[in-house]
Amino acid sequence: MLFLGIETSCDETSAAIFDDDLCIRSNVVASQTDLHARFGGVVPEVAARAHLRQLLPVIDEALQRAGVTLSDLGAIAVHHTPGLIGALLVGVAAAKMLAVTLEVPLIAVNHIEAHIFAARMAAGKEIFPCVGFVISGGHTALFHCHSALQFELLGSTRDDAAGEAFDKVAQILGLGFPGGPAVAREAQFGDPTAYRFPRALIDEDHFDFSFSGLKTAVLYTAFGQDRSRGSPPTGQHRADLAASFQQAVVDVLVEKSRRALRRTHLRRLAVGGGVAANRALREALTQMTREEGSELIIPALELCTDNAAMAALAVEKWRAGQLAPLDLDAVPYLPFS
Ligand code: KG4
Ligand code: ZN
Repeated sequence: MLFLGIETSCDETSAAIFDDDLCIRSNVVASQTDLHARFGGVVPEVAARAHLRQLLPVIDEALQRAGVTLSDLGAIAVHHTPGLIGALLVGVAAAKMLAVTLEVPLIAVNHIEAHIFAARMAAGKEIFPCVGFVISGGHTALFHCHSALQFELLGSTRDDAAGEAFDKVAQILGLGFPGGPAVAREAQFGDPTAYRFPRALIDEDHFDFSFSGLKTAVLYTAFGQDRSRGSPPTGQHRADLAASFQQAVVDVLVEKSRRALRRTHLRRLAVGGGVAANRALREALTQMTREEGSELIIPALELCTDNAAMAALAVEKWRAGQLAPLDLDAVPYLPFS
């Protein structure tokens, strides 16, 4: 049985074909990075309009690359929450239209849960139960994943997400958009011990995060108290700021996930979301899980960032009979219980 997955929650328009054996037949991602770069961040209205233009051609390409046609599809899966409302609506409307016209089931997938399911896809074997960690531009959240369909939130960020902090620090350092890869590149040339930035909540006995103070600390270190009088950092100073910032984020993410493994007595850590593409983080998580005697499951870069193949969580939902009604709504924010 073939599924079409659709992702339009933020600034990537993506369609994928996968089957009920969780084999990815195609996974096409059209990035809008160039459209948003001059604004220094994602503009919701611009994102929604770009999804409108790109989604049908992206679906066509996904079908073509998989060597199938619409009539081969047995179900349509769509990320309907969380995300930018206008962006989500484009994907949800297209998914409903296809489900109705092809007379196949519609399956609604939570984008955050799907980020963890990307690790399941990458592993090629069962990974649940596990600790799930989503580290993206919109979310930093730790879960006790009892199964693919039962996630218990352990903690999440109280302010900025980790990816958001990377993006904002990139702006402070004049490194452009998207910020994560730019800060990571700059950090390669810097000394991660040059500045001792705050690691908020790292020693507290819960799983919440806070990154906004760290961002402000970078701002003040870069410019002094009065930003208007300083000029943006350059050269080694900028590289040291990037490396020290990245190290502070990595330390917090690694320490909290270590605690989550210990608290839950689980032996697997599945990580997803765009920040999981960060090399320093991947290395630190590899070392930590080795020390803890646990297995680290972290997808290749293209499955870490937003894509439609991670909507293959729909296969599990379909097996469990969890189909969506045709009046399915896009939901920008959905609290976890
Ligand atoms: O999961 P994702 O593609 O979209 C959301 O659902 O948010 O994550 C995007 C985030 C952005 O904040 C981006 O700056 C960050 O992931 N990111 C990185 C790296 N690559 C992407 N952050 C740190 N290092 C990277 N190499
Ligand atoms: Zn995402």
